[in-house]
Amino acid sequence: MKLATVVLAAGQGTRMRSSLPKVLHKIFSKPIIQYVVRALNELAPKKIIVVINRHGQIIKDALKGFDDILYVTQQDQKGTADALKSAISSLDNFDGLILIVNGDTPLIEPKILRDFINLHLTNSEDLSVLSFNANGEHSYGRIIRSDGKVIKIVENLDLGEEQKNIKEVNSGIYLMKPELLKLLDEIRISPLKDEYYLTDIINIAYTKGYKVNAHNIGNEEQFVGINSREDLSKAVSFVKNSVVKKWLKEGVTFLDTDSVYIDPDAEIGIDTIIYPNVYIEGTTKIGSNCVIYPNTRIIDSIIYDNVVIKDSSLIELSEIRENSLIGPFAHIRPQSKIGPSCKIGNFVEVKKSVLGKGVKASHLSYLGDAEIGNNVNIGAGTITCNYDGINKHKTIIEDDVFIGSDTQLVAPVRIGKNSYIGAGSTITKEVPSSALAISRTPQKNLKKLTFRKSIKKNVKGDNAL
Ligand code: UD1
Ligand code: CA
Repeated sequence: MKLATVVLAAGQGTRMRSSLPKVLHKIFSKPIIQYVVRALNELAPKKIIVVINRHGQIIKDALKGFDDILYVTQQDQKGTADALKSAISSLDNFDGLILIVNGDTPLIEPKILRDFINLHLTNSEDLSVLSFNANGEHSYGRIIRSDGKVIKIVENLDLGEEQKNIKEVNSGIYLMKPELLKLLDEIRISPLKDEYYLTDIINIAYTKGYKVNAHNIGNEEQFVGINSREDLSKAVSFVKNSVVKKWLKEGVTFLDTDSVYIDPDAEIGIDTIIYPNVYIEGTTKIGSNCVIYPNTRIIDSIIYDNVVIKDSSLIELSEIRENSLIGPFAHIRPQSKIGPSCKIGNFVEVKKSVLGKGVKASHLSYLGDAEIGNNVNIGAGTITCNYDGINKHKTIIEDDVFIGSDTQLVAPVRIGKNSYIGAGSTITKEVPSSALAISRTPQKNLKKLTFRKSIKKNVKGDNAL
């Protein structure tokens, strides 16, 4: 079976009250439209056509990673029927099946779409709509049946009193034979919204004797159409809860399932324990037996097995090897690789640096553009001065080096193997292997008595020295 898919994504999304097109609002790290296109891709269609408006470049940009999408522009936003009309020229001579999907329905799953296609084909239908039962307050179009047969869809604004209680609604997902596209010309403008409703095609096709049906499959959450911020937050909650449920089943412990946000693309190993208020974003992979303490955010990173990340740490686009300890209050910035059994402690910032095995930077340091070997000890307050105001430079620290506290390493600079830097040094030149480098003014001891007397004369009360 040849399948072409059309995504309607040209609407203004006014109910969202946003300067961003509706379909670009994100659920976790990905925009709504990417969820839709990903689901369609799974069906391996011959074509994916995305209908955009005149300002649609921004949507194309958001879908850059997807090859072979055909974009068509709907000049003026005159409704869903008009949007589909804009795609007709791209479907010329297509003799398969057309699947039409609203671009604001991100939680649709390939499986349900496959079931829908199978039902449509098995029943040899000409036009089918995927329906579901909606509860509570909503604005979906109602499926109107007569003797069980679908005869039309009535939009929320046009409902008669007796139709308001109908539970079965339109998901905005349709299948049709290409020959039915011509019926779009027969749709009349809706006076209430001044739009051409695609939903009107159901009644036109039915009246003309085509085989029309609605398949009530799947649950409400999967078909949430995102029109408002409230809908968006519902979708985020739904995804959030289902992802946490999945990892609970896979052997991950959460101390508070409500306050964690795990991206659907992230992975977590067994026996890892996740404390409250943890954000695991993008394609982050976390190994087994890790502990992630509260208020931590990890973005597009790889955390190996047995890593402990203590409270309030931020890790971005980096790699932490097994048995390391990070935090509390550590910031690992992009392109950092922390080796196995390292300790990166309180208020340590690491940027674009590679650390070997067993490196310890336990307190208050900045390590930027550094290459650090194995078993290096970085004393408290060490700073790699990597920026000269114009360019960034590298600091290389070889194996088994001990850097004393409050040291500045002015890059570019190399600290040779097994050497030792005295506390409070400013190192501007290469330190050879096994050397002790100190660069600080020698200590002066002034006469204590004279010094204290002269100060005391000018200071009174409790503040006196
Ligand atoms: C639509 C259906 C409704 C269904 C609901 C499911 C119509 C008339 N109504 O309502 O029966 O229950 O979806 O979620 O179709 N779009 C365009 N061009 C336009 C207008 C809209 O491309 O001129 C796109 C939008 O970007 C959106 C999709 O079509 O992705 C649906 O439009 P929207 O305005 O959200 O329709 P609903 O009112 O939600
Ligand atoms: Ca919608």
